[in-house]
Amino acid sequence: MPKLKTLGHPLSALPAELPPELRGPDWVQANPHRIERELRTALALPSGGWYVLDASRSIGSRPRRYWVEGRELVAWRANREIRVAPNACPHMGASLADGLVRDGRIVCPWHGLELGSDRHGAWCPLAAHDDGVLCWVRVDPLPGDAGEHDPPTPRPVLSARPDTFIDSVMRMEADCEPRDVIANRLDPWHGVYYHPHTFKRLKVIGVEGGRLLVRVVYGITDRLGIEVDATFHCPDPRTITMTIVGGEGTGSVVETHATPLREGRSAIVEATLATSERPGFRRAIRAAGLIRPFILRSQRKLWVEDAAYAERRYALRSGRVPAAGRALKMPSATAGERTEPGN
Ligand code: FES
Ligand SMILES: [Fe+2]
Repeated sequence: MPKLKTLGHPLSALPAELPPELRGPDWVQANPHRIERELRTALALPSGGWYVLDASRSIGSRPRRYWVEGRELVAWRANREIRVAPNACPHMGASLADGLVRDGRIVCPWHGLELGSDRHGAWCPLAAHDDGVLCWVRVDPLPGDAGEHDPPTPRPVLSARPDTFIDSVMRMEADCEPRDVIANRLDPWHGVYYHPHTFKRLKVIGVEGGRLLVRVVYGITDRLGIEVDATFHCPDPRTITMTIVGGEGTGSVVETHATPLREGRSAIVEATLATSERPGFRRAIRAAGLIRPFILRSQRKLWVEDAAYAERRYALRSGRVPAAGRALKMPSATAGERTEPGN
């Protein structure tokens, strides 16, 4: 195997001894009970009712349709402000996403009703927030909803972000639930086996304040890579954030958000906020439009694979594929349908 050369700022010495649960082969360290325990802790966090919709730059003056928690919504921008409301027109139910925006108000494509920030009958805009990178919507739970005990907050919970950054946001959909997306990220051990094109070396080297600490080499070529230390934590039940804490790009974050759309269908919205202390980084920010497509391409490449991981997990969990040593229940043949040989 060719020797791997690494670039970037030097990293701190590895701990002399790893805790017992971080010893042994990777498949032993990737303990499903541990991952499940961390997932349960994340799922118990408050969210204030906020869900990521999409990248801020994806929502402009043309209305766009989204699903969140079984609700069909329309989002548009009125001047600089984002608006999110039910997609069905209160008059006869036309899809407002097929309409247009005039003077910040959405105009229904069927009979021209204009709707803005005020309630119109049962039609009422939802709380929305643009954090500069992502747009969020707050879906207040109805009595009896699962989120009933998660009181609404004026703003979503945000992870710490770098002061200056180049951002790239990827959105894709998958047949799974948000918990499957978060569980994928709570299992960093899979990276080097499942994405060998990107991760040339990956080792979980500790736990810092409850966060897994990972030393990873991102491959540039087969023999050359950039080595960094990164932590993972969940600021809310549908987000997991990777923060570079050592090496090149310290302070950069990758926020992975999962939004439930309909039953068994979720959106994965991942924001990469890359920063650097290098003097040329200010110039790089000016060229962000050129750099962004490269970041997006590598995000998408990883998430095509990770979406398949999350979908597989969901299929196992929901009993659509059998776990090891099990079989799916087969319909039993009735006597009338059975055809014996010779009959
Ligand atoms: S359906 Fe919208 S104005 Fe009639
Ligand atoms: Fe992955």
